[in-house]
Amino acid sequence: MIATVIREQQPNEKRVAITPEGAEQLIKLGLDVLVESDAGLNSGYSDEMYSKIGARISKSRDEAISGADILFAVQAPVPDDIRKMKKEATLVSFIWPLQNGDYVDLLIELQISSLAMDTIPRISRAQSMDALSSMSNIAGYKAALIGANELDRYLPMMMTAAGTIPPAKALVLGAGVAGLQAIATAKRLGAVVEAFDVRPVVKEQVESLGAKFVEVPIEEEETESGGGYAKELSDRNKERQREVIHQHVRKSDIVITTALIPGRPAPLLITKAMVDDMSPGSVVVDIAAEQGGNCELTKAGETVIHKGVKVIGPLNLPSSLASHASKLYSKNILSLTSLLIQEGEPDFNFGDDIILNATVTHKGELISPFVKENMK
Ligand code: NAI
Repeated sequence: MIATVIREQQPNEKRVAITPEGAEQLIKLGLDVLVESDAGLNSGYSDEMYSKIGARISKSRDEAISGADILFAVQAPVPDDIRKMKKEATLVSFIWPLQNGDYVDLLIELQISSLAMDTIPRISRAQSMDALSSMSNIAGYKAALIGANELDRYLPMMMTAAGTIPPAKALVLGAGVAGLQAIATAKRLGAVVEAFDVRPVVKEQVESLGAKFVEVPIEEEETESGGGYAKELSDRNKERQREVIHQHVRKSDIVITTALIPGRPAPLLITKAMVDDMSPGSVVVDIAAEQGGNCELTKAGETVIHKGVKVIGPLNLPSSLASHASKLYSKNILSLTSLLIQEGEPDFNFGDDIILNATVTHKGELISPFVKENMK
């Protein structure tokens, strides 16, 4: 069984799916590891590091792809690459099947088996495979650093001979994995932090990080769907939420927004009118930019300056910490692969909830109940 690691093609994608340490583990699982030349270069892993642990290096991308029985990537490879894969070979990468229906159709047509790192169920047994969490954690950390870096003020309180500077105020909207890490990082840097999420269960987690939870009197409504994800709010509750958020945004030096709803555009939380009320020099870091943004003024991949307020819409934050992002992603993949590979071969055991939900396509069929349910 040949396990191929390809070089990522998207601009600004510096991660690699499998590090040399991960490749060594794949070899221990009985796989013959083939790495496309320079696959790890942008994340700090040279071809020599892979060769040293017994992986083969392929100078030809086509050869690496067409030789693969199982192909590992970070981003879903482009359709032209998929067409070069062997029939019934297996792809393991982020796929985002709900947003990429045509891509899933192609995998079905070409009879490629595919496991999506983004559809692994969020259950305790799958925590070591949870690439969404490892990457969100990085995004939250980086969002706080960007906010601190772009702000024209100190974050911590500073007592100097020239006078005392009060600590900066940070507001984090959305307290999932990324939001909680943004809270923790902004706290470590000395800011006074407030946070809000539609799921009331996170109040305790926010408070345990030393931040204040902003209470929004949401009318009786289920805000959480199965699997712990947020649901879209009713129009009336959205309006109530905006009124309260507005009062907190205007007082904040940094606003970090991370709110997402699976399979839906990111909810609009910060209107232009709210940014109008922020003081010049303040910063909004909208890490939901790729999904449409939580701020009305966000432009994905750009910094918009509105009345002196910087609205930043960063893309692919995990890639900006490529070495550790690759290390963690590689461990997530290894954990899933150890479950998949039995006696040197992929074993699509659909009796296992993790394999069942992570498998998007197999033998020309759509498999994952999570994907089927949410595609409706
Ligand atoms: P996510 O990236 O899908 O969304 C980010 C946050 O935005 C969520 O906390 C969500 O509630 C919030 N949000 C959505 N709409 C909002 C609005 N209008 N206003 C304010 N906030 C809003 O979330 P993530 O980080 O992927 O976590 C989703 C769930 O998965 C959580 O319940 C988390 O605890 C759970 N989880 C479970 C794990 C496990 O058991 N292994 C591992 C990681 C996460």
